[in-house]
Amino acid sequence: METVMVVVGTRPEIIKMAPIVRALHESKIPLIFVHCGQHYDYNMSQQFIEQLELPTPDYAYKVKAYSQGTQTARIITHMERLLKKTSPKLVLVEGDTNGVLATALAALELQIPVGHIEAGLRSFDLRMPEEHNRRLTDHVSTYLFAPTEIAEKNLKRENVWGKIYVTGNTVIDAVIQHLPIAEKKSKILEYINFETFALATAHRAENVDDLIVLENFMETFAEAPIPVIYPMHPRTKKRLQQNRIYTKIKKSKNIQILPPLGYLDFLVLMKKCEMIVTDSGGIQEEATAPCIRKPVLVIRLSTERPEAVKSGFAEVVGTEKHRILKAIKRTLEHPRELPRKSPYGDGNAAEKIVKIIKEELAF
Ligand code: UD1
Ligand code: UDP
Repeated sequence: METVMVVVGTRPEIIKMAPIVRALHESKIPLIFVHCGQHYDYNMSQQFIEQLELPTPDYAYKVKAYSQGTQTARIITHMERLLKKTSPKLVLVEGDTNGVLATALAALELQIPVGHIEAGLRSFDLRMPEEHNRRLTDHVSTYLFAPTEIAEKNLKRENVWGKIYVTGNTVIDAVIQHLPIAEKKSKILEYINFETFALATAHRAENVDDLIVLENFMETFAEAPIPVIYPMHPRTKKRLQQNRIYTKIKKSKNIQILPPLGYLDFLVLMKKCEMIVTDSGGIQEEATAPCIRKPVLVIRLSTERPEAVKSGFAEVVGTEKHRILKAIKRTLEHPRELPRKSPYGDGNAAEKIVKIIKEELAF
């Protein structure tokens, strides 16, 4: 039987692939759903499969915490074996993680076409492993699903060989599909200690693996002129514990640390907060969804989401304490009027992508 293989490995991939899995089901395209094993904790992985009502993966691996090279190599090994065994007609990957590049390389070796969802993003910051992964994946993909025209331009400038389609980002589909469910089901607000708050996340390697930046972030959240709700990524928690900062941060009255949250709880917090302070990629996009519409302070030196900045939702504020604090204060005192339209589409990206797949591969 001819199949499409959908591969996920981390929290954002599961969220952004959920609308694709649904659209493939609706189109009756046979699907092999694979978890390549990059994220493995329940609250970084399985809880999303359950909450987003995705099927149990047909194949699931565990890769654990290795170095980037070892992690990528291990996933290539699993995926090569699996692709040989299952011979799908197309492999779909999403984003810029190690699992994405590993899967794309395994498929390339076996001459199985790769469709890259969220193709063409560029931060032009080679300190980021994600920038390596997305650039390399784009150059071995047969179909490139660029979320925006800026992403399309990046791909054209690099003369990628695959076919480019501008589709919007499936994360907007995910927000629209899940926020109404979240508002009914989530009880997270009962556990939040503050009436008004900023929502913060931080996990990028170039930030939290750098002790100076990590300390800057923690001091910023502790001194912010608004309380900070902080669902903490396991990478960051490990770094704080290794550097003996975690216990001190937990005592700060201005910060409420939470474990990594499920999608429904996180959506409710995005909807309720005054602003988002983050180095996440996906959150910069979600904040632009018409049903969320929140200002985002990007605590990084660059962003591969310039559309969020150009449309007025996001501001890249760097990683220094005084600059981030100044931006928080300004956002509180002078709230910006935010657009009613997202630069990442209207929530029908997955439908568009699956229609293209149907036509291109004659399903
Ligand atoms: C990865 C992606 C990043 C993405 C993020 C989503 C790469 C290079 N990075 O970063 O682009 O934004 O996922 O959250 O692919 N850990 C756990 N439990 C887990 C997963 C991770 O404890 O379930 C800890 C381990 O200490 C691990 C560390 O987090 O070593 C880093 O995990 P890894 O998957 O390598 O990178 P992320 O920082 O999660
Ligand atoms: N998210 C979540 N719970 C959390 C933090 C984030 O569900 O505690 C969701 C968020 O809504 C977004 C995605 O996870 O859809 C972003 O993941 P992350 O920031 O880890 O990765 P990135 O987008 O930077 O690759």
